[in-house]
Amino acid sequence: MFRAYLEDFIIDENETVYKAAWQAQRNRTNLIVIDQNKKFKGIIGTKEIQKSYWGEYKIVKDICNENCVHIIAGTEDEIYAAARNIFAEKSIRFIPVIDGEKNVMDMFSRERAFFMQEFQSRRLSRMHYAECIYKMAEEAKQLGISRFSVIEFGVASGNGLITAEFYAKEISRLLNVEIEVYGFDNASGLPNIEDYRKEAGWIWFEGLFNVMDVEKTKKRLRFAKLILGDIDQSLKTFIQDYHPAPIGVMFVDVDRYASTCSILHFLEQNDKYFMPRIQMYFDDIVDWTDSIGEHLAVKEFNLKHENMKILPEDSHTHIKICSRYLHSLYNKPFRSSWEFTGCNYSSYIL
Ligand SMILES: C[S@@+](CC[C@H](N)C(=O)[O-])C[C@H]1O[C@@H](n2cnc3c(N)ncnc32)[C@H](O)[C@@H]1O
Repeated sequence: MFRAYLEDFIIDENETVYKAAWQAQRNRTNLIVIDQNKKFKGIIGTKEIQKSYWGEYKIVKDICNENCVHIIAGTEDEIYAAARNIFAEKSIRFIPVIDGEKNVMDMFSRERAFFMQEFQSRRLSRMHYAECIYKMAEEAKQLGISRFSVIEFGVASGNGLITAEFYAKEISRLLNVEIEVYGFDNASGLPNIEDYRKEAGWIWFEGLFNVMDVEKTKKRLRFAKLILGDIDQSLKTFIQDYHPAPIGVMFVDVDRYASTCSILHFLEQNDKYFMPRIQMYFDDIVDWTDSIGEHLAVKEFNLKHENMKILPEDSHTHIKICSRYLHSLYNKPFRSSWEFTGCNYSSYIL
């Protein structure tokens, strides 16, 4: 058997080529082919699928490449080393990892093998997710904190959470800091508007992003936890229910003023639940007004709190830092090696 998160990358040899083509296209990856005993058989990608265009190949086993490269699982370091060697020689993007009994263990991507190079060259998708996590991992390490939490508020189809999870795993491995990942969503799209003057309801209307397939999203996660329900309610019991490590990164992608207020209200909890600075990414700050949505919530938060500020407040900076001035570690020296410049939507951070 294989782990649930691999389901999207695996296809049975007796499935149709049509289904395989659709699955490979949707996930933008090659597929691992398994036989009737669920053992590794080979791989199919675009090249193999194209064969079916002009041949009489209807079933996956007809086009399966059984001589494909693969890695036999060993220690984590051995797998990374093997993957790098293969990727250095071959222009492929994925390598299946199997055990000695041909059980499928993983699918290893080029991005994972060369994560640090991809990160430093700013070639990763959602570079801002990687940057926030990396920066916090460096800070945690220097402050002597061995574990911290990353949260995505607003998960929708799950692509952001899966990306955050992937980056957390790789950065954790590189910097030797443990990272927990949580995602919050109601699984029913944007909630009702409470005060239409504070929301851009014509852009972010009720029910938008009602796209989550809960079971599928849960299966796609390796270790991140998906917390379902209205954020306002879920946050009330989050600490007691999950005992999260100090929160160091928050990706806020909820589109709404009211939902952002609930998230910012949560910051009023005791300092011990947070890092002294929290990397915060606000996806939906717009540059044409600061009087609605996430931006308004940030402005109001700053006016209300003397001992906590989310800065810089301007609309061009999507990545902001929440500084907790009374946190016992606030003034402990640390130095980051990383400057924010690669955020897709944001300008420099101060
Ligand atoms: C733009 S989508 C998130 C997209 C996701 N971050 C991604 O990059 O794929 C916004 C999500 O926020 C969720 N959301 C907004 N307000 C919420 C609230 N108060 N409680 C729970 N979920 C909320 C919606 O259900 C929706 O799924």
